[in-house]
Parts: sequence; C-alpha cells; structure tokens
Amino acid sequence: MNKRNHGNSVAVVTGGARGIGLGCAKALVTKGFDIVLVDVLDEELKRSTATLAAKGVHAESFMADVSLFERAQEVVDDILTRYESIDVLVNNAGTPMPKGLLDISEAEWDRTINVHLKGCFNWSRAVVPSMLRSGSGRIVNISSISAYSGGVTRAVSKFAYAAAKAGILGMTRSLAKELGPSITVNAVCPGAIKTELTGKMLDERSAEFTEGISLQRLGTPEDIGEVVAFLASVEPNFINGQAITVDGFQWIT
Ligand SMILES: NC(=O)c1ccc[n+]([C@@H]2O[C@H](COP(=O)([O-])OP(=O)(O)OC[C@H]3O[C@@H](n4cnc5c(N)ncnc54)[C@H](O)[C@@H]3O)[C@@H](O)[C@H]2O)c1
Repeated sequence: MNKRNHGNSVAVVTGGARGIGLGCAKALVTKGFDIVLVDVLDEELKRSTATLAAKGVHAESFMADVSLFERAQEVVDDILTRYESIDVLVNNAGTPMPKGLLDISEAEWDRTINVHLKGCFNWSRAVVPSMLRSGSGRIVNISSISAYSGGVTRAVSKFAYAAAKAGILGMTRSLAKELGPSITVNAVCPGAIKTELTGKMLDERSAEFTEGISLQRLGTPEDIGEVVAFLASVEPNFINGQAITVDGFQWIT
C-alpha cells in the first residue's frame, strides 16, 4: 500500500474552515498533527488549508455537509487511501438556529438536529472503524454551554440548538462507554467565543457579555483549540466521557 508516512498522526476537523474549528486545527498543528478540514465553504477551506500547510504539516480539505452520512464515508475512505488510520476526530461543524418553538419550521428543527447531532453520529460512525483497527483514537465533540443553560438570553430562544448540543453530551458519554478502552470521547462546551458566527451579536452586546464573565473578556477560537488539542493528544489517558466548559466562568444565562 502506498500510504503517506510523515510520522505524523492525522486529525479531522469538521467545520474547520474558520472560527473555532480553525482554532482547533491550528492548535493541533502545533502538536504535530497532519490536518484534514471538512466544511461547506469552498474559499475559506482553501485559504485555511494553505495557512495550516504553511506551518510545515500536511493539510488537506474536503467539501462536505456533515449532515450526510454517505459523504462522510466517502471522505473517510479517501483519507484512508493515504493514511493508515485517523487518530483524532473533532466534531465541530455547526450553525445557529435562533428561533422559538412557535417560529421554527419542522425543516429548520430537522436541519439543526441533522447538522449538530447527526453530524457527530455520521463522522464518528465513519471514522471509528479505522480507530478500532489501529487500537487508539480520540474524539472531541463541540457542544455548548447552551446544553446546560438552554441558551444565552430569554429574548433569543435557541431551544433546537440547545437540544442538539445537549444531545451531543449524551452521545459523548454513551460512546465513551461503548468505545473504551481504545478510544476516548470527550466534549468541550464553549461559552461566548468571538467568531464569524457570533461576531456581530457579540460586538453589539460586548459590554453586557463581558460583565457576566468572570474573566471579563470574550473567548477566542484559540481558547477552545488549546483544550481540544489537549483532549486529542495521547497524554490525558484517564479523561473520558467528560464535558469541559471553557467560558471564562460565564453566569449570564
Ligand atoms: N462561537 C460561539 O460562541 C460558540 C459557543 C458555543 C458553541 N459553539 C459551537 O462551536 C462550533 C463552531 O462555531 P463557530 O462559532 O466557530 O462558528 P462559525 O460559523 O465561525 O464556524 C462554523 C463552521 O462550520 C461550518 N458548517 C456549518 N454547517 C456545516 C455543515 N452542515 N457541514 C459542514 N460544515 C458546516 C461553517 O461553514 C463554518 O465554517 C459550532 O458547533 C457552534 O455551535 C460556538
């Protein structure tokens, strides 16, 4: 077999073209991982892949909607023609759904669950067989403090998003049981992180948010990336099935 052998482990990051996903990819690169970015944004994917490759690792990318299992399997099969196994999966892709129960359509509910929750299923299902064959793997799922709080404010309901993010925590714990001892599955729950997704809203309400955060600042993709890279590395051998909140201690709910 003509497989790539950089001596590097490979990490797949969904929603990796920008924001928190790119922050995770950058942190994984500093740990020496080769990177595969998966996203639906073509231009951003190309730009971010080039940025990562410039740091001296192998970086590649795929256009894929995480809600589609068949596409996940196709991409994973393609990666495995070049790599012996996939070592790390970061399930990060997501999009907000700020609509209340009486405003949301059935299609919007389905889409929210399909991207956030089924996306984690699709990519875990596609990647885990190779991790089991190699005898090790790390999965890190990006949930949210909304899984606990139900959303940041009463004014903007995010109940479908909160449901999907809480579902990710249940899946994380259950898969951690099922896939041990070779694979660990953990989650990270970001608080208010300044990204393209939240930028405008957080700019407008920056003072209100930082007032309710003990560390008196908004989070950055790098803040999340550092924790994800730690959970994805080999050192935390006894952390499994956990959800780590990274929010500077935010008490606005
Ligand atoms: N920013 C925050 O404050 C915050 C807080 C808690 C949780 N999160 C979660 O972190 C994750 C990343 O959010 P972000 O703030 O970086 O947002 P972002 O919009 O900057 O990045 C999300 C990325 O996911 C991609 N994506 C969306 N739907 C996709 C799909 N169906 N298939 C493939 N890729 C898709 C987008 O194209 C984008 O590149 C999300 O799951 C989000 O819910 C964000």
